[in-house]
Amino acid sequence: MNFADSELVAGILHSEGYGFTSEPEEADLVFINTCAIREHAEEKIWQRLKYFQSLKRRRPHLIIGVLGCMAERLRKKLIEEAPVVDMVVGPDSYRHLPQLIRQVEGGTKAIHTLLSREETYADIAPLRLSPHRVSAYISIMRGCNNMCSFCIVPFTRGRERSRSWQTIVEEARHLADAGYKEITLLGQNVDSYNDNGVRFAQLLATVAEAVPEAWIRFATSHPKDMLDEVLEVMASYPNLTPYIHLPVQSGSNTVLQRMNRGYTAEWYLQRIETIRRYLPEAVISTDIIVGFCGETEAEFQDTLALMRAARFDSVYQFMYSERPGTLAARRYADDIPPTVKQARLEAVIALAQTLALESNTRQVGTMQTVLLEKPARRNPQDMAGRTFSGRAVIVREAASQYAPGDKIPVKITEATSATLIGYAAHEHPLCA
Ligand code: 5AD
Ligand code: SF4
Repeated sequence: MNFADSELVAGILHSEGYGFTSEPEEADLVFINTCAIREHAEEKIWQRLKYFQSLKRRRPHLIIGVLGCMAERLRKKLIEEAPVVDMVVGPDSYRHLPQLIRQVEGGTKAIHTLLSREETYADIAPLRLSPHRVSAYISIMRGCNNMCSFCIVPFTRGRERSRSWQTIVEEARHLADAGYKEITLLGQNVDSYNDNGVRFAQLLATVAEAVPEAWIRFATSHPKDMLDEVLEVMASYPNLTPYIHLPVQSGSNTVLQRMNRGYTAEWYLQRIETIRRYLPEAVISTDIIVGFCGETEAEFQDTLALMRAARFDSVYQFMYSERPGTLAARRYADDIPPTVKQARLEAVIALAQTLALESNTRQVGTMQTVLLEKPARRNPQDMAGRTFSGRAVIVREAASQYAPGDKIPVKITEATSATLIGYAAHEHPLCA
């Protein structure tokens, strides 16, 4: 989501005539787009600011701006703690960037962190920043109306609002015309998309029809809101990819209640069953928080049990990090010792790897259509890509014959927990 926001900011600056450099040493203006979801994300920014301070010593006219959720959360405290910062701009204030820059050029620090109920940036063309023009994001809504007790997002990104469906379809068409092969629709909670009665299932169907040549993905789904209608639509359009990111956070009903998630473990597992019924090939990923306030060993074991029952294909795991001002910070003590959090995190990682390896091993021997994205990092003769359902694949010896953006048949010959490995179908030794 921040990547998409950075493209939006780049679009705004580009239309004002600014140019871009990949060398911070050459820049006259540096913006850092920030995340506030865990303390660690913010610590990285404080470190980064030290580096920019050293740049500014050499180039005193350099303007430094902090954008995004950390800006929204800390406001003027950011400038007080880090005087190197000239601008603090929240997620709903990017339209004001040109005038805020002028303000700083005039010698005054600039802070704009007012949240909006309407801003969706629907009329602003993002400047695409990914070097391989294969996949692109479209932000379909902003903010979040849920109040998960651990989460800072409703405070930093504000109320939920949906972007008009017409502008989303237009942007998708535009991307496909520009050669993009894969489009991901983004929102904190896509299932509550609502543009004057047009709901997510209808939006998805409309986008699928408007760009039949592109693969369409989306994130994030909320288990309490995900409708069967969305699954029905996914099953009926050949370009809607069977990939669902469905964060569960915990497998314990008592923890889920403290987290204010609005569902039980049993409900969640029912949703998984329904997904697999509509989309037998679905890849399902999730987010898990370990060490949430008061999490007992038994409650943690429920999370491991749910992971096994759901047979997740992929898991993103996090240690609970208390965020000031959230419901959990006000109501519960952050009382799980770091060593226990760490041990639980490792247990989740170990189980997630086992499940991912099982899931990937089931693909060995199959043929998959793979969208090639870029040369593989380890061996540039190979190419990295993804299957239709979103599994990472390394295609051996593909770089000499294919280019990023090609969709090719691949025979899967090996699997690790992180990736599938295969050969372009006619390249496989057994297919010679
Ligand atoms: N601590 C740890 N993880 C968090 N997440 C959100 N808030 C916190 C927090 N305070 C995780 C959730 C969410 C993902 C994007 O980040 O799992 O789904
Ligand atoms: Fe945070 Fe919950 Fe909203 Fe996700 S749904 S952004 S976890 S409040």
